[in-house]
Amino acid sequence: MIALISDIHANIEALTVVMEDINKQNVDTIFCLGDVIGYGPNPRECIEIVRNCSEFTLCGNHEEAVLFSAQDFNVKARRAIDWTRDQLNSDKYDQEENYELWDFLGELRKKVKDESVLYVHASPRQPTREYVLPKDIKDQNKMESIFMEFENCGVCFCGHTHIPGVFTDDLKFEYSRNLGNRFEISSYPGKKLINVGSVGQPRDGDNRASYVLFDVENQIIEWKRLPYDYKKTMEKIRAVDDLADYLAVRLEEGR
Ligand SMILES: [Fe+2]
Repeated sequence: MIALISDIHANIEALTVVMEDINKQNVDTIFCLGDVIGYGPNPRECIEIVRNCSEFTLCGNHEEAVLFSAQDFNVKARRAIDWTRDQLNSDKYDQEENYELWDFLGELRKKVKDESVLYVHASPRQPTREYVLPKDIKDQNKMESIFMEFENCGVCFCGHTHIPGVFTDDLKFEYSRNLGNRFEISSYPGKKLINVGSVGQPRDGDNRASYVLFDVENQIIEWKRLPYDYKKTMEKIRAVDDLADYLAVRLEEGR
């Protein structure tokens, strides 16, 4: 069993609840699809947990922004990125400790592929950046081009939009909740792009943390939704001037 986590966004309360749940399952390995940091108040702590627990972590757009440039982020998101960068450089910690965090970020890969499954943060054609949203099923060119990039894989897992569900190559999308949070890979013969949802900032109207259990042997996917103490995270966000208030509000609303 593989646990797939993504878009933690420095939310330690959500990550802790998810890790506790993963420890109760029959999980052999954890893959993290990126955006461990950005938006939230605990970037160092979240990197530390993910670094120690996951077999690999992919580079998300927030890692890319902290490492290189946040030019294409909006003003408030950029301010959060600058604050995050300061936290990782903080002189309250040992320089060695800071270097370890930066080394981890610097070594993240953009894509991982095993025999039949591709893992990306955002989309197969732009692995750190492109948003594939439910409304995109109407954009035939975009979706066909994305499915062409699957590199001989039938399944691609992603995060990035924070909206859990399945895109199929007949240009349909189903929210995970409409699937009863369960999907059998063999139930659809074509290619599928599966979004695992977000641990630390869900945006599908459900404020519970989301992650996926991937039963490799039986090829079954289950989305787990877990309540966590988002009020505590909201308080911490509101205590930091550089983290905009809407970053707190959206945790409560799940949007
Ligand atoms: Fe994200």
